[in-house]
Amino acid sequence: MPSLKKYLLLPSIIRLSSRVPRNRNTAWEGYWGRIQKTGSGGDVLWDAGNDHEFASYLPALQRTLNPDLPVVDVGCGHGSFTRLLAGHFPRAFGVDVAPGAVARARDQNTDLPSVEFRTLDCTVAGAGELLATELGDCNVFVRGVFHVLDPGARIALAANLLPLVGRQGRVFLVETNFRGNALDYISRLGASPRKIPRPLKLAISGLPKPGHFGPLERLAAFDDDGWTVLEDGAVTIDAADMTTKGQPEQIPGYYAVLAPRG
Ligand SMILES: C[S@@+](CC[C@H](N)C(=O)[O-])C[C@H]1O[C@@H](n2cnc3c(N)ncnc32)[C@H](O)[C@@H]1O
Repeated sequence: MPSLKKYLLLPSIIRLSSRVPRNRNTAWEGYWGRIQKTGSGGDVLWDAGNDHEFASYLPALQRTLNPDLPVVDVGCGHGSFTRLLAGHFPRAFGVDVAPGAVARARDQNTDLPSVEFRTLDCTVAGAGELLATELGDCNVFVRGVFHVLDPGARIALAANLLPLVGRQGRVFLVETNFRGNALDYISRLGASPRKIPRPLKLAISGLPKPGHFGPLERLAAFDDDGWTVLEDGAVTIDAADMTTKGQPEQIPGYYAVLAPRG
């Protein structure tokens, strides 16, 4: 879209985003309650409905994570990545703050006995210890959660992951890292002054404005005293198709694999 035309989107964006509940957890529960369809051609912005993106992480997952430990998918949403992870670890455990997301994840998991889902606010003090007491040392997978949290909650989440990984586990995180402004972002995802695609409209009208998460944001959340970075770099996140039917949108992302120090 020509650079000035995107500003015509502003009135719709302001109107839609004025509906977002102030409490983030309430917003997430409301959002999941409005989702009618997941997977390809569905409503969930970050769901391309295939395993292409997961397959691109597999080599890094396999060289950095201990395959004998359980994996916890933090902020699992409707559990599509939890189910993919289950093929590579003895147990896969999806946790999410929104009961509606967890209910949906359970409904969609009809055939994998090693997969479980639970409602949990992973930023609350003690959440990591609680899971560690039950599961022991775990690998942690996080996709698209840090960038939707405020800076204080990012620190709280990272602090909870330390007891959860224990000595043997690792954190594998993948986050959106689009560095332009919000109008550039939504224009790139197919919004025009005439039409905003449904997955984007549901997100703008239901969710807190997302941030971005790259090396600097990772360093602010995972301090050097507690964590060491084993790998990091750029990745591509596949999202719902909104500009061309059948072709997932591609969003610039950042991945990092972290190990506890000491
Ligand atoms: C962008 S979605 C990503 C979902 C999933 N990881 C995926 O990639 O399909 C972010 C998810 O984080 C969850 N979430 C947000 N804050 C959370 C918190 N404090 N604790 C646990 N989950 C949270 C939301 O409910 C939502 O399902």
